[in-house]
Amino acid sequence: MTHQYPAFTAEQKKELQDIAQRIVAPGKGILAADESTGSMAKRLNPIGVENTEENRRLYRQILFSADERIDKCIGGVIFFHETLYQKADDGTPFAEMIKDRGIVVGIKVDKGVVPLAGTNGETTTQGLDGLSERCAQYKKDGADFAKWRSVLKISETTPSELAIMENANVLARYASICQQNGIVPIVEPEILPDGDHDLKRCQYVSEKVLAACYKALSDHHVYLEGTLLKPNMVTAGHSCPTKYSSEEIAMATVTALRRTVPPAVTGVTFLSGGQSEEDASINLSAINNCPLTKPWALTFSYGRALQASALNAWRGDKENEKAATEQFIKRAESSPSPKWAESDSSPSPTTYYCLSVS
Ligand code: 13P
Repeated sequence: MTHQYPAFTAEQKKELQDIAQRIVAPGKGILAADESTGSMAKRLNPIGVENTEENRRLYRQILFSADERIDKCIGGVIFFHETLYQKADDGTPFAEMIKDRGIVVGIKVDKGVVPLAGTNGETTTQGLDGLSERCAQYKKDGADFAKWRSVLKISETTPSELAIMENANVLARYASICQQNGIVPIVEPEILPDGDHDLKRCQYVSEKVLAACYKALSDHHVYLEGTLLKPNMVTAGHSCPTKYSSEEIAMATVTALRRTVPPAVTGVTFLSGGQSEEDASINLSAINNCPLTKPWALTFSYGRALQASALNAWRGDKENEKAATEQFIKRAESSPSPKWAESDSSPSPTTYYCLSVS
């Protein structure tokens, strides 16, 4: 086997690791505000708001104008392309507003999923064409990290070997391109919670998917210290008749991560994946309290679990804007970071010892 040719200078590595560490500094997580235009329709239509560019701007302004209380709990914000170039009412670009308060600006760079022919409804994610040029431009425009979402499904026949390998490889190629442009990649292999599978099956699939991702990242010479992982928590499928405790979810999640994610990875920032705001907070707290050695920061990169109450409070009405911002601040403050997890209100670690590691 050949040796590795130099991919990064010491300065490049330091910059990447510093960015990753700032995003997941103690007490901090990520606000995923990178819903595509199509996904914004799914958020705005139920509250009776038309999905226009101006309404999307007004809504993002509600989130980004939160006061200094969020500076302690939000380390990064992921933007969608359109939002990165939008401005607040007073003319300040959103990206500048976020950056000026010490929060790292991120950008969604994938272009969505497309079918993998010959599979049972599986997908790969597109967006590699021109990615290096787009990353270079985003870096100039203030972004220091990026996100790329791959999607895998659990059923009797999925995920297939093809879907696992293809998505691992495309995530690794994306991560490599980001790092060459000074951008920290968030690697997001999301395993959907649809289905009636139990916790064990989700843990098994998560281990196989994550193991494939880290093999591909190694093959592509990605600098792990300058990356973040954005996985699903290991949960049973939505239609599973068995309900599991947050301690069981935490044990399955941390076990899967310990078996597959190298300690060199700077942080694990979970997606909320349709969990309620409360469940997402309780489960993340349990994960941080799980009494197994955890060599990475374990925090949140939530979309829906940070925004659902804010959207409901707003409903498109100017008079509700302040109340909506307060709802967002409340969620951000109660999303448990490692600091929160050490508080007296955390569940006792002894709760976990009766759980066997499968
Ligand atoms: P949810 O937390 O709503 O799952 O969204 C996070 C995200 O960015 C998915 O790509």
